[in-house]
Amino acid sequence: MSGRILPEVVGYLELNPKSARLGRFGVGDEAAIYIHFPFCSHLCTYCDFDTFAGQERWMDSYLDAVVEQIRCSPRVQATSLYVGGGTPSLMSPARAAQLVTSCRERFHLAADAETTIEANPSGLTGKGLEGFRQAGFNRLSLGVQSTDRRLLRLLGRRHTPEEAEASVRAAREVGFYNVSIDLLYGVPVQGQSVWETTLETTIGWGVDHLSCYALTVEPGTPMERGVNRGILQMPAEETVVEMYHTSCVTELKTDTDSFFVKADGVGIIVHLTVEYGDIVKRK
Ligand SMILES: C[S@@+](CC[C@H](N)C(=O)[O-])C[C@H]1O[C@@H](n2cnc3c(N)ncnc32)[C@H](O)[C@@H]1O
Ligand code: SF4
Repeated sequence: MSGRILPEVVGYLELNPKSARLGRFGVGDEAAIYIHFPFCSHLCTYCDFDTFAGQERWMDSYLDAVVEQIRCSPRVQATSLYVGGGTPSLMSPARAAQLVTSCRERFHLAADAETTIEANPSGLTGKGLEGFRQAGFNRLSLGVQSTDRRLLRLLGRRHTPEEAEASVRAAREVGFYNVSIDLLYGVPVQGQSVWETTLETTIGWGVDHLSCYALTVEPGTPMERGVNRGILQMPAEETVVEMYHTSCVTELKTDTDSFFVKADGVGIIVHLTVEYGDIVKRK
């Protein structure tokens, strides 16, 4: 993966139809807008997402191409905007603002529509977060993955648990009223108690939402090589299932108002919505 280069600079913009027939839009049809930002400062050991490290020189051309695509897109009713990656927090707040403005000019996007930007705590500053908030994003999706130092190293993450917590706090301070974090479970050497601690710690940070993903060993990743060579051992399926159930129970222990658990047929994806009284009221 690290040797990959961008084949060509083409903006990746997706209009996911909500009410239109697939790919065909008419007057009054709705879409959720997804903009992909395929750049990361480095590649994590487990990830095979469509993203590139060491290709920063293409960022501006890529964003120009996305903006051009927005200008050429059908003028749909947009229910939400999501900028994902990759690591969108690597772009400057000015370029992020240009994406929001271009979408607002082209699409019918309600003033209070959910607008999300994905971020990595590594290198994320309060000033940067403030810039993204001012750019027009109201929801932050932060890749935390774990609060255990050893696991963060194994996963190839370059941030500490403290930096992740500080990012959540800074996001609140600059006015993100919806903060979601991604966590991984079913990771080698993680164990049930580390997973429990991670859940309890991050819920304690007062986030609105946890996306808990069971680790998939993806072909061609350093994680796969480690597993194939016997250096890393994946947890037994029963352990992963136990972690899945712990996620649900942990959430319930915190007096939350509601939760949402989603399991797909392939891996197990726990999708938890953690809503505290005080956060629900925050607008
Ligand atoms: C685009 S990334 C999130 C934002 C940012 N790039 C970051 O990692 O900080 C989306 C999420 O997918 C999950 N993910 C990536 N690779 C995965 C894998 N092999 N198995 C399970 N989940 C994975 C991670 O939790 C990651 O945060
Ligand atoms: S997990 Fe996020 S930061 Fe890590 S390589 Fe994948 S997209 Fe990039």
